[in-house]
Amino acid sequence: IDTRFRSAGSYRAPYHMENSDAAILRFPFPFPEDHYMYSMNIEPHVKAGAVDSLRRTFDVDEHYVVECREKARILSEDPGRCIVLPHMRAAEWDFVELAMGSLSEDYPDLFHLSRDGTRWRWINRPLNIDQHFVFGDAGTLPYAPFEFMARQMQGDFTLQDQRDNDLWMDGGMVTSQADWSLKFDLGMSFGQWHAPVPKAGEMGIFDRGLRFLLMLQHGRPVRRLNWTMTVNPRLDTSPENFTIWGRDRAGVTGDNARDLVHLRVELQALFRLPRSNAILFAVRCYLLPLRDIALVHKWRIRLHRVLRDLDPALSAYKGLDLYRAHAVHYLARFDNNEPTSKGI
Ligand code: HEM
Repeated sequence: IDTRFRSAGSYRAPYHMENSDAAILRFPFPFPEDHYMYSMNIEPHVKAGAVDSLRRTFDVDEHYVVECREKARILSEDPGRCIVLPHMRAAEWDFVELAMGSLSEDYPDLFHLSRDGTRWRWINRPLNIDQHFVFGDAGTLPYAPFEFMARQMQGDFTLQDQRDNDLWMDGGMVTSQADWSLKFDLGMSFGQWHAPVPKAGEMGIFDRGLRFLLMLQHGRPVRRLNWTMTVNPRLDTSPENFTIWGRDRAGVTGDNARDLVHLRVELQALFRLPRSNAILFAVRCYLLPLRDIALVHKWRIRLHRVLRDLDPALSAYKGLDLYRAHAVHYLARFDNNEPTSKGI
C-alpha cells in the first residue's frame, strides 16, 4: 500500500479513525457564517476552492483504502446497497468513463487509463487492480460497470434519470449515508425523496434546485456542501442499521462529546452524463471529531454559534436533539464572543 494511505482504521465498533494534520486542514468546513439555514448553496464544481478537498473531480484522501474496504464489507453484508434499474445501462458506462477519466487525470501516480478504441485497460494501484475490458460490454468486467467503479471510490453515488421534467433516483451505491436509504428512495422523484426535509420546500429551495438541475450541462458540474453530526466515526449511518448506531446518541456526555461527536460534511457533486442524459449525484463524506475542529480558531467559534442557534426543526431532522447541548457546552469554552470574518 502506498504510504500516503492509512492501512488500518475502523468505521465500526471498536471505532478507530484518525485524521492527520494535513487531513484536518483539508476538511471542507461548511459554514461561511455564524448562523446556518438551508439555502441554494450551489456553485460550479471547478478544480479550485478554499481547501484542497475541493480541487479534484473526485477527492481521494488518506482514508481511501480503508474506506473502500469498509464499503466492500457493507456490500457483502447487504448487496442491496447497490441497485441499478435496467434502463440505466448507458448511465453506468457514462459513470465508468467519467470516473476512470477524471481519477487518472487528477492522480496519474495512482490510477491509469489507456484506451484503444473500445479496448480499455484500467489500473488502480492503491487497490491493486489491473483490468482489461471492452467499453460497453459488461461481460468483460467482474461486476456490472457501475458497481465495478463505485466500489473503487470513496463516498456514495446515485444515478438520476431525467423524464417528464423531473429526476428519478433509478440507481446507486449507498453505503455511507446520513440516515436515508437507496432501497426506500429507489424510483422516487426529486420531490418525493426530499419529502422528509423540513423548511426547504416552503423556502422554494427544492423547486429552484430541480429547475436548475434539469438544465445542468455536460462538462459543467456543480457542487454543494451539506452537513450533519454523527456519534462515533461511523460512515454507515443507514436506516438499515439504525439499531446498531442509533443508541450511541444517548451515550454522549459533557466529558466525551469532544471525542465522540463528529461534524459530518458531505461534498455533493452533480454531473450531467453525456450518453444517457442522466445526472450523477456524488456524495463524499468527511468526518471530524469536535476535538479536531477545536484545533482551528475560526471553526471552533463558528461551530459553537451554529449549533447553539440551530433552528429546532433542523436539529430534530438531523437527529441532534439527544446530544446537541453537550456539543455546545464543549465548544462554548472557545467562544470569546469576538466577531468572525465572513467566509470559510
Ligand atoms: C436531503 C438526495 C439535490 C438540498 C437529501 C436526502 C437525499 C437527497 C436522499 C435525504 C432525505 C431524507 O431525509 O430521507 C439528493 C439527490 C439530489 C439532491 C439525489 C440530486 C439529484 C439537492 C439539491 C439541493 C438539495 C440541488 C439544494 C439546492 C437538500 C437539503 C437536504 C437534502 C437541504 C436536507 C439535508 C440536511 O439537513 O441534512 N437530498 N439531493 N438536494 N437535500 Fe438533496
